[in-house]
Amino acid sequence: MLPFSQYDADGRLHHLITLEGMSSAQVRELLDRAQAHLRRPGEPPARSRALEGVSVGSIFTEPSTRTRASFELAARRLGADVLNLEIQLSSRVKGETVLDTIYTLQAMAVDVFVIRDAEVGVCQYVAEHVQPHVSVLSAGEAHVSHPTQGLLDALTILQFKGGFRDLVVAVVGDVRHSRVARSAYEVFTALEVGELRIVGPRALLPEAGEMPGARRFESLEAGILHADVVMMLRIQRERMAEASIPDPHDYCARWGLTAKRLKLARPEAIVMHPGPMNREVEIASEVADGPHSVIRQQVTNGVAVRMAVLETVIGNRDRRRGRR
Ligand code: CP
Repeated sequence: MLPFSQYDADGRLHHLITLEGMSSAQVRELLDRAQAHLRRPGEPPARSRALEGVSVGSIFTEPSTRTRASFELAARRLGADVLNLEIQLSSRVKGETVLDTIYTLQAMAVDVFVIRDAEVGVCQYVAEHVQPHVSVLSAGEAHVSHPTQGLLDALTILQFKGGFRDLVVAVVGDVRHSRVARSAYEVFTALEVGELRIVGPRALLPEAGEMPGARRFESLEAGILHADVVMMLRIQRERMAEASIPDPHDYCARWGLTAKRLKLARPEAIVMHPGPMNREVEIASEVADGPHSVIRQQVTNGVAVRMAVLETVIGNRDRRRGRR
């Protein structure tokens, strides 16, 4: 059996499980496609019939607001039929396996599965078992990967900074438990960001050797000094032992991004956060809602990125079918 690949025999995207190893050209193709779906503020959102006749099913076993809503809107704006399985009301709670759930929905002609799961490997496992015309898109997997988040973060930086190579990008906070940080690392590496920094208390930085090429900082002030982009991360309480969870007040005092601290970054720096935010813990409201914040634009860009990914995998499927 061939080792798993998220690409088809022609090297085109079939599934999207990870950004690891993706080339700059592959990332830029997705970003270009996403940019075509962006509209000016106040204009109606982009729509097309590119996914007419396609069914998109979402299965989220971890909570989500942004990813789930934006995948649904993306699919609907492309004309797809959309199913959001309510996992607590599904037969999974009666002991049905993940594969039996997938096979059941596949029998109803679901073409694309959007999966968020707390367990490492579930997206790939499902991708290895679906029919050849079906695609699996990760909507966030444990602490390891959140590929569409990485793409929307890159799109946001491109929008505000015009490129990547001259930038200092600081990823700050609970990097160790963050799938957002890992996908950001992968996409920023592909795009050859000038200087990538990971910044946080030692206990919340990844193991030494993970994220080669990124500079490590155990001081917020040093880590964001002259940064062009400051990406704040939430403390992933759900992935920590109770005893390891930092006290929110202590954390805020040492690691919270305030307007005063943000002055250490470049004057035109942008502040990002994947959400959901813990206001007055990792980020002060004056920063989250302030002039440097592009957090809401990240959310807007999430719909465009997910439209691009859906269009891409369905376009590639149709290309494979056309050859037969
Ligand atoms: N950024 C992100 O994944 O947010 P949700 O958990 O709300 O989807």
